[in-house]
Amino acid sequence: MQIGTSSILIRPSTDDDVPAMLEIYRHHIRNGIGDLGSYREEPLQAEDLKQRRKNMKKRRLPHLVAEVGGSIAGYAYAVPFRKRPAYRFTLKHSIYVHADFMYLGIGRQLLPALIEACAQAGYTQIIGYIDATNEASLRLHEACGFERVGLLKSVGFKFGHWTDSVMVQRPLGQGNALSPGGWPPVEIL
Ligand SMILES: CC(C)(COP(=O)(O)OP(=O)(O)OC[C@H]1O[C@@H](n2cnc3c(N)ncnc32)[C@H](O)[C@@H]1OP(=O)(O)O)[C@@H](O)C(=O)NCCC(=O)NCCS
Repeated sequence: MQIGTSSILIRPSTDDDVPAMLEIYRHHIRNGIGDLGSYREEPLQAEDLKQRRKNMKKRRLPHLVAEVGGSIAGYAYAVPFRKRPAYRFTLKHSIYVHADFMYLGIGRQLLPALIEACAQAGYTQIIGYIDATNEASLRLHEACGFERVGLLKSVGFKFGHWTDSVMVQRPLGQGNALSPGGWPPVEIL
């Protein structure tokens, strides 16, 4: 079953969405789905998330939620790939769907919206790291135009064993076809 696209509202997140986003995040930490499981020992707090949203806004970095029937069904955001100024046109991103809404088509709406918002903001490449066993995320990213560009072996340790990460990448907008000129998506020094 899929949720009809007209029933999914994708919009920028607000501070009011923070509790719902935290619930999604904490669920995936507890259950080890995706890249989160037991990697982060200190649970993310509401204030951390509010601060992160504020910083991202300053840098024109998208932070989106997917809403279904008034509930937050997922969220996605992008952060700078690296802090050094040379990398200022490149982002890395995260996407999380609420357990009750997984595999219903939310990711297929939310990820393209994030890609579009990043391109609109002037960024030119986006990168993701996906646990090598996370079939749904790998398929989602490939369906949204990401290419597998690397396999990072044994870079994680969770639930008693080493895990591999797949690095995926996608150009945004015109990618490297044009020089970005003087336009800065924020110099991060
Ligand atoms: C990975 C995740 C973002 C995908 O979003 P989603 O809304 O659940 O997925 P969608 O329904 O949009 O489906 C996306 C693709 O996943 C694949 N998929 C769907 N159901 C699946 C399942 N049960 N098992 C494996 N793959 C599945 C399909 O290929 C689908 O694309 P298609 O419909 O064009 O074939 C979401 O499941 C999630 O948040 N998982 C837990 C956290 C996580 O892994 N985050 C990503 C970290 S990199």
